[in-house]
Amino acid sequence: MTTTTTPVVAHTREELKAAREALPSRDVAVVMTMGALHDGHAHLIRAARQRHAHVVVTIFLNPLQFGPKEDLSRYPRTFDSDMEICTTAGVDVVFAPTPDVVYPDGDPGVRVAAGPLGEVLEGASRPGHFDGVLTVVGKLLHLTAARSAYFGQKDAQQLLLIRRMVRDVDFPVDIVSVPTVREPDGLAMSSRNMYLTDSDREVALSLSRALRAGAEAARLGPSAVRRAAREVMVEEPLALVDYLVLVHPHTLQSVPEWYRGEALLAVAAKVGTTRLIDNAPLHLGPDGGAIDVFSDVPHARADV
Ligand code: PAJ
Repeated sequence: MTTTTTPVVAHTREELKAAREALPSRDVAVVMTMGALHDGHAHLIRAARQRHAHVVVTIFLNPLQFGPKEDLSRYPRTFDSDMEICTTAGVDVVFAPTPDVVYPDGDPGVRVAAGPLGEVLEGASRPGHFDGVLTVVGKLLHLTAARSAYFGQKDAQQLLLIRRMVRDVDFPVDIVSVPTVREPDGLAMSSRNMYLTDSDREVALSLSRALRAGAEAARLGPSAVRRAAREVMVEEPLALVDYLVLVHPHTLQSVPEWYRGEALLAVAAKVGTTRLIDNAPLHLGPDGGAIDVFSDVPHARADV
């Protein structure tokens, strides 16, 4: 029988510090979230739990990363079920601050600048989004003083930028990535899936279908991947594509036709009122395929 203990909940910086100091070991990993937890988050927590003595989960709906016309006000808030997930997954401490705890002086005048990698793809549609993400991730790394931080491949550009921030300005933390967790039908788990109606959900499946079609063409090279993925999206006109790109995983620049090696096939589309993103890390070349997204395709590999 496994026993579960309810995590200590900290709302203030002082409570967090006290909870941190009460942990018997310094070997702490952090999983940062905006709440509305699902199995993708639970998977991150379990991965952290396996490798570290303690896990701190942060639940903070960060206003700084939402644009004025985005979904901050309707973003799902499900604290009670979040706590159940954290309890089952064996979390030690939940840090759930309000905005005035994280930003005691209001909007911070000094922020982390994501730079050019933050201006493409998601950043092109959501100006300032990644500055807001990196600013809060930096703060939460400092406040939790974690040794390792776990992030999902689901948000590939966010993961890349966090890795860059940690390297570029020397944060003393290991960043670990976890493959995207999907529903049985392929839909990537997301807190925003709660917005989808039944018919939206059918339409939303086109994103993962397009990625799978692209992955299956990976042997043939970039234009075959793009064509295969595009054909799927064209068949689903109710998914309004923002971008569907095949890019280098480090530069996020489009890969040329001669390119072979690792690449990222990424898609963003609006389905009903909901903007969804998904991606597949691919290996382009003779034995190509998806790297970690679709478990039955070759090249399964990830940090976890
Ligand atoms: P949120 O969207 O809540 O996601 C929290 C973490 O869970 C991120 O690392 C995200 O990539 C990961 N995640 C979400 N869906 C996943 C899935 N289906 N499979 C695997 N991992 C998944 O991302 C954020 O919050 C915020 O931007 C944050 C980093 C907390 C900063 O505010």
